[in-house]
Amino acid sequence: MKEEEFRASDRARGAHDQHTSRPADVDTVRIVQAASSASEAAWGGRFESLPSEEVERFGASLPVDKRLWREDIDGSIAHARMLGRCGIITSEEAEQLIAGLTGIRADIEAGKLAPGEHIEDIHMLVESELTARVGELGGRLHTGRSRNDQVASDLRLWVKRQLSSEHLPLLCELREVLLETARSNQKVLLPGYTHMQRAQPILLAHYLSAYVQMFARDFIRFKAARDAADASALGSAALAGTSYGIDRQMTAAELGFSTVMISALDAVSDRDFVLDALYASAVCQMHLSRICEELVLWSSTEFGFVTLADSYATGSSIMPQKKNPDFAELVRGKSGRVYGDLMALLTVMKGLPLSYDKDMQEDKEPLFDALDTVADSLRILTGMLRTAHFHTSRMRSAATRGFAAATDLADYLVQRAGVPFRQAHEIMGNVVLYAVKQNRLSLEQLSLDELRAFHPAFDQEAMDLLDPRAGIALKRSEGATGPEMVALQLEASEARLAADRAELEL
Ligand code: ARG
Repeated sequence: MKEEEFRASDRARGAHDQHTSRPADVDTVRIVQAASSASEAAWGGRFESLPSEEVERFGASLPVDKRLWREDIDGSIAHARMLGRCGIITSEEAEQLIAGLTGIRADIEAGKLAPGEHIEDIHMLVESELTARVGELGGRLHTGRSRNDQVASDLRLWVKRQLSSEHLPLLCELREVLLETARSNQKVLLPGYTHMQRAQPILLAHYLSAYVQMFARDFIRFKAARDAADASALGSAALAGTSYGIDRQMTAAELGFSTVMISALDAVSDRDFVLDALYASAVCQMHLSRICEELVLWSSTEFGFVTLADSYATGSSIMPQKKNPDFAELVRGKSGRVYGDLMALLTVMKGLPLSYDKDMQEDKEPLFDALDTVADSLRILTGMLRTAHFHTSRMRSAATRGFAAATDLADYLVQRAGVPFRQAHEIMGNVVLYAVKQNRLSLEQLSLDELRAFHPAFDQEAMDLLDPRAGIALKRSEGATGPEMVALQLEASEARLAADRAELEL
């Protein structure tokens, strides 16, 4: 499930809030407001007037980054505790700050607090609410840190948590459904295609195993993105570090980061880890679009290989007979936005001078959009496959008809009669041309005598190869579609899945 969002007040609710639910009881909801005059603003001292509402709205990221509330509060608690332990504030002050922040977290969780207007981002919101609760002391929290290291740390924490709790487990579930379907259909034949033309018969399990490999590599890519996010930027301050005696290791450990970023300047400027997550998302969505495209094709009357459950299809408002694979199409279509999200951030980051630039505020929308889209798509496809009905006899008869055994017969000439492959290929090409001209629909419709006219080495054993099962059984190279080889593929994939699950402690 999408993590629970910080609810917007009715008035502040904008286009971004389509997923939020209504506040529990409007009377008990406190709306966090910003400073009302220039002198009260976070940078008050230097300013004599506030931006107009239009300018302010343009600059605000709160409608998007309010989703980081949990990470922002966790980061602030770790920072406050560290300030206390390092003697930069007293331990009583640290305790009061932590109590205030914990109270804010509880109130947001309970839906008792809503983001108001005139607040730029989640960092300002938490700080201004804290000050409203603990008074002037709230102003001490921002000692030795900046919103630049704060936003980088919040985002790193969010990416880590999101990938660990959603994307990695969802990829495991999808792999499991594919493997289960492969296991329960181990003998089912399917035409394999190249150029969308029937190429060679394969096992359905061989086909499913190919997707298992792709999603196993997506798992690796998401894990790499999670690990890239796993370093603390907190305590980098604006870009230069700080003259306070802070302990960055302490906050990193409290927040569960495995390491501290070496350079403060890099830490506030880097968004590679977001791009890593977006690239992993783009590739994963591309894989999802390919299997969904096949489900769309396979569910057509022309193929008839699969029937999707009614709960994963829609009807037509005009044609009563129709059952449309809308959700498979939509997963396929959503690749566009995920690729767009990656391109958007790559373009934002291009040519940006060090360190933080406001452009970087544009990192969160593509990140949230891509990760939400991929997670939703993974869930939809997993459910769709779990409930789909495969028409295995249709698949088998499609694998049998046609000329798909031509390659096996060419190989037969090579192996039995020592014919060079190119020549064997040509002989079989002539056989197919002859059959087509004779209006035969498949090689099985040729007699042994007809075959022998093309080469004397053809015999009854060659005729047996016209049964696609015989051709498949001969494919014993590593990774091949022969039943023993597919069984090995499935075993290796199951072992990989179990290891990945153990690592996630699922
Ligand atoms: N809202 C900003 C963002 O999302 C937070 C960092 C702002 N830092 C600054 N110096 N203006 O990127």
